[in-house]
Amino acid sequence: MSDTPVAVVPSTEEALARLDMPLVDAMMTQRAIRRVHPDPVDDAIVLKLLELAQRAPTGQNGQQWEFVVVQDRAAKARLGRSYRRIWNLYWRTVYRHVAAKDPAKARMAKAVQWQVDHFEEIPVLVVACIRLGVREGRVPLVRMPHIAESGYWGSIYPAVQNLLLGARAMGLGASLVTMPLWNLTAARRMLELPVDVTPVCVVPLGWPKGRYGPSARIPVGDVTHRDAYGNRYWLDPGG
Ligand SMILES: Cc1cc2nc3c(=O)[nH]c(=O)nc-3n(C[C@H](O)[C@H](O)[C@H](O)COP(=O)(O)O)c2cc1C
Repeated sequence: MSDTPVAVVPSTEEALARLDMPLVDAMMTQRAIRRVHPDPVDDAIVLKLLELAQRAPTGQNGQQWEFVVVQDRAAKARLGRSYRRIWNLYWRTVYRHVAAKDPAKARMAKAVQWQVDHFEEIPVLVVACIRLGVREGRVPLVRMPHIAESGYWGSIYPAVQNLLLGARAMGLGASLVTMPLWNLTAARRMLELPVDVTPVCVVPLGWPKGRYGPSARIPVGDVTHRDAYGNRYWLDPGG
């Protein structure tokens, strides 16, 4: 008998009903869940998440997002091979030294390794892409240094965060990963993307093996400045 735990898969109606979770609870407990069960995720759930993603802002309301929902095992395996190649290199050259000194990083590395090793078993990979050029009635996004660069990436990542929060509320495991896309040319070819559509990140989705819980972050006072950088009022209100 297999000792692999069976996923607790809610019905689609139950999962969608969970979206009324208080926002603050979703935000405080949304974290990278990399170990997931292979059980399928209903298309209605994926589509709902993408609708939520689309509520996010974009530069000039350009709405230049495109989402490729990868469910085909061979396609997932191709992305997984790309992920494995870069992760192995990163692990050997950098991360194992970091993990050797820090147990939290070592735990994360184990989770990443699991994800790399099981990429094609993960039921859904959402590849979030951004389209350059003109869509009818839309302002084109232009990639340039400086502020336009910020507008470019900033026109897809808020949507991805909405997706992650929606997944968290539904209890669906999700994470944000970029490593599978390190070779842009190969990723474009794998996903048959036109030249004006750039893949930005992948969100693997599945019913979690673990559970969501509070995320660990540095204290807000450590990164907050009043009026100008360096004024640490927040750390010492009387000072
Ligand atoms: C731009 C970006 C790229 C990331 N790429 C990867 C990745 O390729 N693989 C991975 O396992 N996690 C990736 N992550 C996830 C981060 O490691 C994770 O968000 C961070 O460790 C915080 O995790 P937590 O929310 O569980 O505390 C990425 C996150 C961001 C924002």
